[in-house]
Amino acid sequence: MKSTLSIRPETPDDAEDVRRVVAGAFGGERVAALLDGLRESVAWLGLGYVAEERGAVCGAVCYTRAWLDAPTRLYEVLVLSPMAVVLERQRTGIGSQLLDESLRLLREREEPLVFLEGDPGFYSRLGFVAGAELGFTPPSVRIPSHAFQVAVLPGYDRASMSGALVYPDVFWRHDSVGLRPEV
Ligand SMILES: CC(C)(COP(=O)(O)OP(=O)(O)OC[C@H]1O[C@@H](n2cnc3c(N)ncnc32)[C@H](O)[C@@H]1OP(=O)(O)O)[C@@H](O)C(=O)NCCC(=O)NCCS
Repeated sequence: MKSTLSIRPETPDDAEDVRRVVAGAFGGERVAALLDGLRESVAWLGLGYVAEERGAVCGAVCYTRAWLDAPTRLYEVLVLSPMAVVLERQRTGIGSQLLDESLRLLREREEPLVFLEGDPGFYSRLGFVAGAELGFTPPSVRIPSHAFQVAVLPGYDRASMSGALVYPDVFWRHDSVGLRPEV
């Protein structure tokens, strides 16, 4: 059967649908509120992609601006967050296609690196490796080393690009960095 799934850049008209998908997949407002904050911040690049099936948005991924504090200078890099697929369609391959196609489109932009915090069981299938493997350190000690991952893009230069990922303040304002102990 022909697939009805399409992956395309997010447009301003998608914002509400993307928010709904994110709130549903993460089971609450916390990550959706971070997304609202990202959209209003200097980190926002208008760089999101959606998965659409029969006219309905069923998955979304956003890439925003952050920095790498390398020995000789700061480099602009991307952070993947949030990424979500509607609950009833998870584990059917939508997230993988969305991630794969969005990374293909990002390779046309000459960006050097995409960082994320996430489960390597999902992201390592599509080219992400542990940040430490390439000489990167996370923005917080509360990010488990296996969760701190990176994918290299065409603008990457191994000789000059190492050091700490620096998050924009919006992640801190939303206390959305790493893990905190359950209380
Ligand atoms: C994570 C998420 C975006 C993945 O999208 P998806 O469409 O469910 O993923 P896919 O079906 O393309 O691939 C899933 C595969 O990755 C593997 N995987 C490993 N860890 C996983 C995880 N934490 N979540 C989902 N898949 C995971 C699965 O084994 C699965 O393979 P299988 O179906 O052969 O077992 C989606 O499940 C989701 O929205 N989850 C809730 C929100 C979330 O956690 N977002 C990511 C935060 S970093």
